[in-house]
Amino acid sequence: MSETAKQKNMASKAHAEVHSDDAAKDGRTRTLHIFRGDGEGGDLVEYEIPMIEGMVVLDAVLNIQAHQAGDLAVRWNCKAAHCGSCSAEINGKPKLLCKTRVEEYEGQDIRVMPLQAFPVVKDLVSDVSWNYGVSAQIPAFNPGNEQAPFTMFEEDVERLYEPRKCIECFMCQDVCHVLRTHHKHPEFAGPRFFVRMQYLEMHPMDQSSRLQFLKEGRGGVQYCNITKCCSEVCPVDIHITDNSIIPLKERVADEYYDPAKWLMRKIRGNRRNGSANGGGARPNHKRAEIRTNG
Ligand code: SF4
Ligand code: SF4
Ligand code: FES
Repeated sequence: MSETAKQKNMASKAHAEVHSDDAAKDGRTRTLHIFRGDGEGGDLVEYEIPMIEGMVVLDAVLNIQAHQAGDLAVRWNCKAAHCGSCSAEINGKPKLLCKTRVEEYEGQDIRVMPLQAFPVVKDLVSDVSWNYGVSAQIPAFNPGNEQAPFTMFEEDVERLYEPRKCIECFMCQDVCHVLRTHHKHPEFAGPRFFVRMQYLEMHPMDQSSRLQFLKEGRGGVQYCNITKCCSEVCPVDIHITDNSIIPLKERVADEYYDPAKWLMRKIRGNRRNGSANGGGARPNHKRAEIRTNG
């Protein structure tokens, strides 16, 4: 088979179900160790499956579920690396099960575990609902009195494409040591939400500020020491540290440590404390400010 035909064949099989007929065509097998258990504890259990060229780890897990362990819990939806549901850990690293070929682990064990930064529900399923709680606390998009459709400069719109690619797989949250090792969940929003806040802060029509949330609220951007682990695991190649976290840190530093801005913040804070609703909206100059920075 030519190299191109071989590649096409692999691509077409990448998301295919594994059937016992396929096993008959190719006698090879593959062993996987899969976590079986819940939040109370569990163990890795060994399964042997028929090996098929191009098979992804999700195929292998679904084959085990279909033929050997009907109660094996795994979350998936699109099987095309679009929905972010199938994130888990393979050999200690967060991966999308539907985007990771079994062949990548030739000569190695394959150990599949649930995401470790969140409570385990069962087998390969973690409870990621904490993330939705964080999301709900971020000051929402606020276009003021402007009504869609908006007119925006092209360069402003282009800057919003990257953060919009996020599929909420939460693998960046899983790998971040602030959550995974130091368990700062009550004080730290995590890289996924720095991406979200970068989007909102750079949106030319938005009139709210998230800098207070980032510095004094549960954003906790100061805990991030820019190790870039989050960027390395992002399946849609968002440059989380360079394009989201560093610009947010710079804005926080400008706001809190520039003496003139510090004074303005104090004055605004005093006004806010004296107002009935606590304020929170930023002055209506964000669009001009971003355009001149761009
Ligand atoms: S760069 Fe920051 S947010 Fe990303 S993994 Fe490292 S500490 Fe966490
Ligand atoms: S930023 Fe990347 S790694 Fe993080 S949740 Fe979004 S897609 Fe997943
Ligand atoms: S099943 Fe949707 S990303 Fe894997």
